[in-house]
Amino acid sequence: MKLSGRITEMKQSPIRKYYVYANKAKAQGKKVYCLNIGQPDIKTPKAFMEAIRNFDEDVLEYAPSEGMPELIESILGYYKRYGMNYTKEEVLITNGGSEALTFIMSCILDAGDEVIMPEPYYTNYVTFISMADGVVKPLTTNAENGYHYADKDKIEAVITPKTKAFVIGNPGNPTGNVLTREEIRMICDVAKKYDFFIIADEVYREFVYDGKDMTSFGQYEDVADRVIIVDSVSKRFSACGARIGSIITKNSELFSNLLKLAQGRLSCSTLDQIGSAALYNLEPSYFNEVKAEYEHRRNVVYDELCKIKGIVCEKPSGAFYITCKLPVDNAEDFLIWLLENFDDKGETVMFSPAEGFYATPGLGRSEIRIAYVLKETDMLRGIEIIELGLEAYKKR
Ligand SMILES: Cc1ncc(COP(=O)(O)O)c(C=O)c1O
Repeated sequence: MKLSGRITEMKQSPIRKYYVYANKAKAQGKKVYCLNIGQPDIKTPKAFMEAIRNFDEDVLEYAPSEGMPELIESILGYYKRYGMNYTKEEVLITNGGSEALTFIMSCILDAGDEVIMPEPYYTNYVTFISMADGVVKPLTTNAENGYHYADKDKIEAVITPKTKAFVIGNPGNPTGNVLTREEIRMICDVAKKYDFFIIADEVYREFVYDGKDMTSFGQYEDVADRVIIVDSVSKRFSACGARIGSIITKNSELFSNLLKLAQGRLSCSTLDQIGSAALYNLEPSYFNEVKAEYEHRRNVVYDELCKIKGIVCEKPSGAFYITCKLPVDNAEDFLIWLLENFDDKGETVMFSPAEGFYATPGLGRSEIRIAYVLKETDMLRGIEIIELGLEAYKKR
């Protein structure tokens, strides 16, 4: 029996598909440093588990489709601390930022509608757009100019009558790019001029370094009807397994249509919502230490990478990823070789080849993404293995 063209054309996640090789390397007794996935080692705040332990109901019921009132209240309080005022009718709880994105694409796209995305991008965006029969319109960037994409002419050049939305990860995954206030203003003006939605994926909101300010698209009132914020506890509170995200929007028509999808999937996990409410009630000072830890890792990882001869790499300003260009023709071949044929004292490394983060064929082939989610010593060892591997790879 034939499956849909939609699903057969979708690609496997370029982040997860190399586990087959990593698992074989592990089975051979090698230790593999996993720099490939955004799973932080930072401890989830104890408040999450404590709130769940205190749950004392006889029946674990469905939660309301739009989310539990205590979680929505705590999210409203969190946004208020950033000077953004939302009401409970403007926050929808979802199963992670992933479901938020799926719902949004279903609500705004008709078949053939176009979504602009800077490439390299977070690959799952493509999956969510494809599920809604939308089309990705890449806004190409490159390692040499630090993956900057906030250029009015370049953005206008990819807009067509079918442009429905611009997806912006800010801070960005995989590049760690952070927009300035002026760049955000410019993008808002372009969205108004050409009348499209801004899907502001701000799941890494707090992780902005070098003393730069956190700026949200939610702070621009004149575009409030077209801004759709995607949020999540996964990265913010190192709670990826909680699967709690949210959509924040002042567009009431969109909100009432999103609710149809939320009602269709009944509800999100009750216990995870209870734990997440406690997370959003944490003092803002919680982020100081976590942010300082990521910033430190960013610095050491960047300095170490810069020692690799022939690398093209700019210091990212946010999130916990670095994308860079290696002196190899094909980073995927290099990774598979590292996992299958190389070790240093029984250890090897895994990263994400970046070609799958591009829509334009052939781009990103020499690039890789590193997630600095492990402690400093492990990160440094992982990069050392990349460097040693590169030398051996050239000589092979
Ligand atoms: C940019 C970005 N958006 C959304 C997500 C979705 O995360 P979750 O579904 O865990 O909230 C991720 C996860 O890595 C991400 O990097």
